[in-house]
Amino acid sequence: MKRFRIASAGCGAMSRAWLQYTLTREDTEIVALVDPVTASANARKEEFHLDCAVFSGLQDAIKETGANLVFDITPPEFHKPTVLTALRMGCDVFGEKPMSDTLEHAREMKEAARKSGRLYAVMQNRRYHPQIIAFRDLLQDPELGAQGYVCADFFLAPHFGGFRDAMDSPLILDMAIHTFDAARYLTGANAKTVYCQEFNPSWSWYRGDACAVCIFEMTNGSIFVYRGSWCSDGMPTSWESEWRISCAGGTALWNGRDVPVSEILKTMEGDAPGQEKRAPLRKTAVVPQGIPTGHPACLEEMFSSLLAGREPQTSCYDNYNSIAMVFGAIESARTGQKVGIRL
Ligand SMILES: NC(=O)c1ccc[n+]([C@@H]2O[C@H](COP(=O)([O-])OP(=O)(O)OC[C@H]3O[C@@H](n4cnc5c(N)ncnc54)[C@H](O)[C@@H]3O)[C@@H](O)[C@H]2O)c1
Repeated sequence: MKRFRIASAGCGAMSRAWLQYTLTREDTEIVALVDPVTASANARKEEFHLDCAVFSGLQDAIKETGANLVFDITPPEFHKPTVLTALRMGCDVFGEKPMSDTLEHAREMKEAARKSGRLYAVMQNRRYHPQIIAFRDLLQDPELGAQGYVCADFFLAPHFGGFRDAMDSPLILDMAIHTFDAARYLTGANAKTVYCQEFNPSWSWYRGDACAVCIFEMTNGSIFVYRGSWCSDGMPTSWESEWRISCAGGTALWNGRDVPVSEILKTMEGDAPGQEKRAPLRKTAVVPQGIPTGHPACLEEMFSSLLAGREPQTSCYDNYNSIAMVFGAIESARTGQKVGIRL
């Protein structure tokens, strides 16, 4: 019997990335595919040539197959029941972002994980882009110094159909979680407060607000400004956002596509005191090569941490700090007030 017996819940678009990676491991076995639309589960079973049972509910799937690890790849509103069922039945859980559809649900899920002693890790695949790893390293440069003003722009125009088109806050809840999590990753800080304005332009094809501006105060003293749109045609940014980080000694940029760079203003030696000239010094980040990226990298980290008995980089406890930024922003947008982040 393989070490990890997996019941995979949610057989939509994103399940492909999860199954593809999982099938490369020798210590895993997919024992159940779960989806209320069993045709979707059967389609996935056929596509990946799986020899497993198909279920419409997770509880039966775990009971009948003896699964010990659950993948939660369902839409956000089903994350809480899926994760709680899995933990209650003694399984570890790897789940998709966003952790949940409300902050209260996320808190219950985190507490359930703590009480169960099982691992619950959340997919934040964009942390594993080699360029963001290089960008974070570049930001450690003592010559750049303290971060003061962290800006991320995200302007795209995807037509998804499905659950996102019906959400109240599709951009903030389904997508900005990635950028907010990246801001924590890059600054090494959490958010303390947020002011957010959400809006939906006249031409938007989403029911809920597809645009937002957020201003976060971070615990390292910096201000993080997010400008985002999911209905902005023309001149698209990268899905990773375009970043400008203004620091005490200079500025670091990453456009989400190319190698990150910084520019530091160096004081020239030899001029009379008080009359030193300052010259710009460009530095280029060193991007790690040949490492796993995206979903495979994040899943690799989840499996490694489970095997080592340690918390993964994106454990529910860490990820709660990112989802709290999401719901802080939503609360601010609803109330029109700057709000404290509830950690
Ligand atoms: N990390 C990323 O980059 C990324 C990208 C896209 C989507 N996602 C996330 O992945 C999750 C799924 O998104 P998707 O695009 O695959 O959605 P999808 O609509 O294509 O598929 C979701 C599937 O879940 C099934 N489902 C609904 N309720 C269920 C339940 N209780 N138990 C089991 N299955 C259930 C649906 O029938 C559907 O087949 C979402 O949380 C989404 O935000 C993450």
